[in-house]
Amino acid sequence: MIITIDGPAGAGKSTVAKLLAERLGFCFLDTGAMYRAVALAGLQRGIDWAVPEQIATVAETVDIRLDKDRVLLDGQDVSDSIRSSQVTAVTRHVADNPRVRQLMVDLQRRLAFGKNVVTEGRDQGTLVFPNAELKVFLTASPEERARRRLRDLSAQGESPTFADVLQAIVQRDQQDAQRPLGAMRRAPDAVELCTDGLTIDQVVDRLELLARQRLPKL
Ligand code: DC
Repeated sequence: MIITIDGPAGAGKSTVAKLLAERLGFCFLDTGAMYRAVALAGLQRGIDWAVPEQIATVAETVDIRLDKDRVLLDGQDVSDSIRSSQVTAVTRHVADNPRVRQLMVDLQRRLAFGKNVVTEGRDQGTLVFPNAELKVFLTASPEERARRRLRDLSAQGESPTFADVLQAIVQRDQQDAQRPLGAMRRAPDAVELCTDGLTIDQVVDRLELLARQRLPKL
């Protein structure tokens, strides 16, 4: 059984997807972490981001593993370093690359094969798992998402201004929505949930209810 959670950056997808997976006893797949891990590997190798072949070569030669909520890149735990602003800034080159996307989509389907999975990203309900039993499109206003991002970044020791974070969020929404392949889009059969003013627990409660209604065997 597959539950997909798509939506813009900062809507809380990772947090609620992880908690929902725990409640249901499902595996959790953070697909943004995969694109981020390739971006980190590209930074470590000092590639030229203007050359798509170099980016694709990185994706073809790295070993990415997801172990619960930890991300391993060539055996190293990079779960924290893939969240830095430096990695976020170059991840779009990775996510825009059609060869990388094909590799990631194949990997995501392989990882989910035969399992009960909550997967989150941008294209999970539209492109990767079009037959998912439950599709959710999770949103929040750009201001709310910027406030949340600012909190996360200051916890990591970064101190950007609210205006800078908001601008980066709006820009990333545009990039995510305009990507030729794997663009962020609400699947026609997805349930849309705006998380403004809701606590994490309230969001997870609603999703759990939806999952149990849709999947009576749970
Ligand atoms: O969800 P996130 O911020 O960790 O995602 C990082 C980037 O990867 C984001 O800019 C969009 C991209 N992404 C994607 O294109 N497709 C996915 N399935 C997941 C993420």
